[in-house]
Amino acid sequence: MTETINIAVFPVAGFGTRFLPVTKASPKEMLPVVDKPLIQYAVEEAYAAGIRTMVFVTGRNKWSITEHYDVAYELENELEQRGKDEFLKIVREIKPGDMQVVYIRQELALGLGHAVLCARPIVRDRPFAVLLADDLLYNDGKPVMQQMVEVYNKHQQGVLGVQEVPQEHTKRYGIITEGARINEQVCTVEAIVEKPDPADAPSREAVIGRYILPGQIMGILADTKPGAGGEIQLTDAIEALVKEKTLLAYRYEGTRYDCGDKLGYLQANVEMGLRHPELGEGFAEYLAQR
Ligand code: UTP
Repeated sequence: MTETINIAVFPVAGFGTRFLPVTKASPKEMLPVVDKPLIQYAVEEAYAAGIRTMVFVTGRNKWSITEHYDVAYELENELEQRGKDEFLKIVREIKPGDMQVVYIRQELALGLGHAVLCARPIVRDRPFAVLLADDLLYNDGKPVMQQMVEVYNKHQQGVLGVQEVPQEHTKRYGIITEGARINEQVCTVEAIVEKPDPADAPSREAVIGRYILPGQIMGILADTKPGAGGEIQLTDAIEALVKEKTLLAYRYEGTRYDCGDKLGYLQANVEMGLRHPELGEGFAEYLAQR
């Protein structure tokens, strides 16, 4: 039976410690890149891939994400009365009418794997996508999650978004051991290890914040013990999964900005600012003159 991907899980319950002090009271996922919060870029990417159920796994201080996806009657009324149609359109487009939003609370930030496990009552045994909003992925053609859904549809196997990283950066990612190569962009995953030292890394193929996983991962996560950093790691559950089931690694087409890191976040603002239809030209002039 072929299954389609209709659910995306957005783990947004982390502390965002690398971004303190701004993340003391506001979520990292609401940081704006030019004029849109990070979470909106990720949700739009999932929507473009045909996904209609968005599951936010939230924690403390995350109310502004809920507000962002609520209907703002007063604001809409005000904009309507003042005839500010272009702004009204921007506000209404945040949550298209056919998109469903579900919130689940992760009471304690026990790790990314645990956050994904919190979505089990919604996901049940169906395949689903996971998007980490602090990885902003840009492609001026086909959005990355759409590329991954196409790979999933073709092979009916889970897909991990991967990217080659410099050897000295392996310590920041889950790193895969490549199995059989299917084509230039797709291979099977033989094994995966969380944040290996550069000397021990099995490759330079790093898993980025985009996953399509079979529902089976939930049962494995439920039995996964805390790993690196004392956290329940999604990587450890994936390592157990690949022993039972074929999983694919996909080298996505696009540019990634690591917005969980201050430098990556600044780069994202510069690059997306330069691409912005209204601001790009003026911003480029400013940068050239300074
Ligand atoms: P990170 O490793 O980036 O952690 O989590 P973080 O807390 O967001 O940021 P730092 O490292 O302290 O600066 C990756 C993703 O997993 C989510 C985060 O919200 C982020 O989207 N996460 C992490 C959870 O939802 N729950 C957790 O317990 C841990």
